Amino acid sequence: MTNEKELHGYYAGLRSKFMVIIFFIAFIPLMLLGGTTYYYYSTTVKEKIRNELKLITKNRKDTIDLFLNDRANCLSVLAYTHSFDFLKKKENLLNSFQLSKRVCSAFQDMGIINSDGEQVAYIGPYHLTGKQYSTADWFKAVMKKDVYISDVFLGFRKVPHFIIAVKRMENGKPWILRVTIDINRINHFMSTALLGKGGSDAYILSLEGIYQISGADTDRILTKSDFKMPSVFRGIKEKEKHYGGKTLLCAKAWLKNNDWLMVIEQDLQYELGPVVHVKNTVLLIFIISSFIIVISTIFITRRVFAKLEKMGLEKLQLREQLVRSDRLAAIGKLASGIAHEINNPMAVISEKAGWIGDLLTEEDVKNSPNYDELIKSTQDIKKHVQRGKKVISRLMGFARKEDIAHKNVDINSVLDETHDFMNKKAMFQNIALMKEFQPDLPSIVTDGAQLQQVFINIVNNAIDAINKDGVIRLITKAKDGGVLVSIVDTGPGMPKETQTKIFDPFFTTKPVGKGTGLGLSTSYGIVEKLGGQLTVESEVDKGTTFHIALPPTCIKESEV
Ligand SMILES: Nc1ncnc2c1ncn2[C@@H]1O[C@H](COP(=O)(O)OP(=O)(O)O)[C@@H](O)[C@H]1O
Ligand SMILES: [Mg+2]
Repeated sequence: MTNEKELHGYYAGLRSKFMVIIFFIAFIPLMLLGGTTYYYYSTTVKEKIRNELKLITKNRKDTIDLFLNDRANCLSVLAYTHSFDFLKKKENLLNSFQLSKRVCSAFQDMGIINSDGEQVAYIGPYHLTGKQYSTADWFKAVMKKDVYISDVFLGFRKVPHFIIAVKRMENGKPWILRVTIDINRINHFMSTALLGKGGSDAYILSLEGIYQISGADTDRILTKSDFKMPSVFRGIKEKEKHYGGKTLLCAKAWLKNNDWLMVIEQDLQYELGPVVHVKNTVLLIFIISSFIIVISTIFITRRVFAKLEKMGLEKLQLREQLVRSDRLAAIGKLASGIAHEINNPMAVISEKAGWIGDLLTEEDVKNSPNYDELIKSTQDIKKHVQRGKKVISRLMGFARKEDIAHKNVDINSVLDETHDFMNKKAMFQNIALMKEFQPDLPSIVTDGAQLQQVFINIVNNAIDAINKDGVIRLITKAKDGGVLVSIVDTGPGMPKETQTKIFDPFFTTKPVGKGTGLGLSTSYGIVEKLGGQLTVESEVDKGTTFHIALPPTCIKESEV
C-alpha cells in the first residue's frame, strides 16, 4: 500500500470479510438452536395429538361395537324367550318393547314379521302393520344370518334409520323380531369424539362408502363419500393427509364386523396452535438476536477497523516521513558538496565583476558609448551571483548539522516578530495577518531563529497563494506539553496531488525566477531537526493550513 486510498480500500475489504465471518459464526448456532427447538417441539406435540386421536378412535369403536352387540343380544333374548304367537299379539309386543327399552335404550320401534315377510305386529310411531318386507334386502339377509344389523336406509318411513333383526325357527318355520335404532345415539358418540372445536370431522361409512352416520353435517347422510375405502384391517390406522390446502390427521377403524368404517379427522392447524406460538416466539427471538448481532457486529467492526485504519495510516505517514527525510538528507549532502565546489568560483566571478566595474570608471572607458551598458552588465553579474549564493546557502540548510541553538523560546514572541516582519508586505496586498495566540503558552527549548525562518517561509507562501484580499491567521496552542502553531490562509488551496509534492525540494508551481521550490522542503527539514512535525491540510477553493507541532524540548544533536 502506497497511499491513503489503497489503504482505505484494503481495510474496507478486510472489514467486509470480517463481518461476513462474524455473521456466519453467530448465525449458524442461532439457526441450529431455533430450528431444532421448533422441530422437536412440533414433533412432540404432533405425536401427542396423534396418540390422543388414536385413543379416542379406539374408545369410540369399542363403544359403538358394544352398543350394537348389546342391542342384538337383548333382541335375541326377547325372541328366544317368547313365541311367535305370543309376540304377534299387540299388547304382548308392546309390553316386551317397553321392557326391552328400559334395558336397551335407543330402540325406536319393534315389529314381528312372519316367514312370508309380512309385518304381523308393529309398535312404534309409524303405521307399518301389515307391511310386506319379503323383497327388502334386510329381510333376505336376516333369513340367511339369524342376527343381522343393517346399514342405514330410508325404508317405508322415508327417514334414515337402521335395524337389528333376529330370526328364530319355531315349528320349522322362521319368524323375525326386528327393532329400529335411533341413529342419533351413534351420532352423539361420534360428535363427542371430536378433539377440538374447529376443523374436525367424525363419520361412519358403509362398505360402499355411503355415509351411515354423518356427524355434524346431517345433509350428507346416505350420500356417497369420496373417501377411498381401505381394505379390512384390525385395530386403528392413522395417517396424515393433505386435503384442500389443509393437513388432516385421519384415524380409521372397522366396526360392526367390518361392515362400517369409522373415520375421525382432525385439522392439525387447529391443534397446532401452541406450536405456531412457539414458532412465532422462536422466529421473534431469532429476528431480535439477528438484529442485535448485525448492529453490534457493524458497530464493533467499524470501531475496530477505524482504529486499525488509523494505525495503518499513521504507519504509512511515518514511512512517508522517513522516505522524505532520507531524500532530504541525500539531497542535502549532494547540495552541500556541490555548494562547496560552486561557492569558490562564484566568489571569484563576483570579485572579478567588481574589479571590472572599478576598471570601467577609468577615463578612457568612461567616454565609450557602451559605458552604461558595461556598468549595468557588471551589476547584473553581481546580482545573479548573489542569487546563486542564496540558493546555495538554502541548499546547505538541509545538511547543516552544527547550528541548532537550544534556548528557552517563547513561540508567541517569535510569531510576533514574524508578524512585524511580514505585515507590511501583507498589508500591501490587502491581506489581514491576524494573531490568535494562547496567552499562557509554555516556553519550549528549541532554536528560535530557525523557527522564524520556517514561519516566514510559510507566511510568504500564504501571501503568494492569496495574492490579493484575504486573511492569514497565526494560531498558537499548548499541546502535549509542547506547542502547536497553525498558519491558516484563505488562499486557493491545493489538490491532493500537489499536497503530496510540496515538501519535495525544487517543487514549485511558481514561474521561473519567482519560486525555487526550496521553502517548504527546508522548513520541513528544520522542523524535523527540532523534533517536531510539519503537516499540511488543504482544500481547493477553501484555503490551506500548515501545522507545526513542536515538542517541549528539541533533541540535542549529540543525543541523536
Ligand atoms: N499556502 C499555500 N497555498 C497554496 N499553495 C501553496 C501554499 N504554500 C505552498 N504552496 C505550494 O507549494 C509549492 C512549494 O512551496 P515552496 O517549497 O515554498 O516553494 P516556492 O514557494 O518557491 O514555490 C508552491 O509553489 C505552491 O504551489
Ligand atoms: Mg516558498
